[in-house]
Amino acid sequence: MNYEKKIPLILDGDPGHDDAIAWVIAASDPRFEIKAITTVAGNQTLAKVSENARKIAALLGLDVEVAKGREVPLIADLITGGDYHGTTGLDGPVLPDPQHPYSSLSAVEMMAKVLQESEEPVIIVATGPQTNVAALLLTHPELKEKIRLISTMGGGLRNGNWTSTAEFNLLNDPEAAYIEYHAGVPLQMCGLDVTEQAVIYPEEWQKIRELHNPVAETVAGWLDFFSIKLKELGWDGVTLHDPCAVLSLVHPEIFTMNDYYVEIVLDGEYTRGMTMADYKGTTKNKPNCRAVTGIDREKFVECLIEACSRFGKEEQA
Ligand code: RIB
Ligand code: CA
Repeated sequence: MNYEKKIPLILDGDPGHDDAIAWVIAASDPRFEIKAITTVAGNQTLAKVSENARKIAALLGLDVEVAKGREVPLIADLITGGDYHGTTGLDGPVLPDPQHPYSSLSAVEMMAKVLQESEEPVIIVATGPQTNVAALLLTHPELKEKIRLISTMGGGLRNGNWTSTAEFNLLNDPEAAYIEYHAGVPLQMCGLDVTEQAVIYPEEWQKIRELHNPVAETVAGWLDFFSIKLKELGWDGVTLHDPCAVLSLVHPEIFTMNDYYVEIVLDGEYTRGMTMADYKGTTKNKPNCRAVTGIDREKFVECLIEACSRFGKEEQA
């Protein structure tokens, strides 16, 4: 991906500790221009994740509007992930109350506005249920050509995490994912295959804390909190799901990627929300996504530490 011109980004998510860290990485990279933040219910209710989004934008010094999206999935009932992210959806470090008002536009209207006004095709980083993206694709098919890529966190070609077969984001709104995977737009899937390898350990995020800038200290605090529930489940580190959807854009060399036709399963008591890759060409369909399936974990952590270090440099300048 060439970066002669800044790449316009829309950050759509349900922050959520790992969404927040993904947004830190995006905000740290001068090759990106974050045009808007849009929120979707998932880790917590729409109201809570939207409040978190405004606080994260303020922490990162992003002069962008936050536009609220869908409160509920297209058809399914909402599943929230409070146990993992706490009652606020971003428990841990207390962030200043944001000054930014919410946009008067909905998430879909904001996405459409950014796409319409952007000279350059836009990357949408979608790290929650894919509800807003699906709504955009349904209501503005004419804007598909302005989408450079939809970089998603969701799915899992080998296993799920909310059920044995389905990952939380896509299980929350399988219909939205189906629309997205059948829309014919450039799509990157960071599923559990790669994100469960993207683990950071306490001694590594201690290095982030020791950067001693407000963003780095907040990231370390988020990781402290996010590790609590994961430790109960037997993880000895934190799986950084959503950051993969950003870091794979700027450091593709540390990831393994394969183009597959991936089907979204909508039915079955035990299979709804599953992502099935057609490894054998059974469907005779051409690939519809680039699946990110591997990572150099140590380099991933180095990139995260480097991203956090950038928030202290302006102060030193
Ligand atoms: O399954 C992991 C995904 O669910 C991540 O996006 C996390 O933030 C939660 O939304
Ligand atoms: Ca998320």
